[in-house]
Amino acid sequence: MYNSLLSFHSIVRWLVLITLFFSIYRALKGYFKNTTFSKLDNLIRHWTATVAHIQLLIGILLYTQSPIVTYFFKNFNASISNINTTFFGLIHILLMVIAIVVITIGSALAKRKLKDKEKYKTIAIWFSIALLIIFIAIPWPFSPLANRPYIR
Ligand code: HEM
Repeated sequence: MYNSLLSFHSIVRWLVLITLFFSIYRALKGYFKNTTFSKLDNLIRHWTATVAHIQLLIGILLYTQSPIVTYFFKNFNASISNINTTFFGLIHILLMVIAIVVITIGSALAKRKLKDKEKYKTIAIWFSIALLIIFIAIPWPFSPLANRPYIR
């Protein structure tokens, strides 16, 4: 269960990144070219938020199964000073939840805007902020916080 969740969580990270990049690209293109906000644009906005929510659910499940997280809470005083355990026990979950809240707000605000240009602008701004936070909170092989493979 734990290993499957970890692999799945690792793979879905790429879906989160691809959908966010694509949304931002479409939003910027639409904004600067003054195009109509199409049904496809709306689907992309919707699916970007949905993929992020799926990753949130997998993350929550993984959080309850992870031996690192269990160790972190059982040995809180000792592990709080260890960046590897603190990263998965606190930093990762905190930053990712913030990022997903940002995506959710951005998506909901864009949906309610009346002008197409405003929809594009809202998506571009909120999704870019979320992408930045997610990028920082992913344990990339090159991250100074914690290191994991690109794919598991
Ligand atoms: C956009 C959101 C997220 C992304 C892109 C993401 C990405 C990742 C990646 C790439 C890993 C490393 C996987 C590996 O070891 O191969 C990881 C680990 C982990 N993530 Fe997330 N994550 C996200 C959200 C969350 C959330 C919201 C939670 C908790 C509620 C969470 C909990 C965890 C845990 C506990 C681990 C480490 C488990 C372990 O090694 O035992 N993640 N995440």
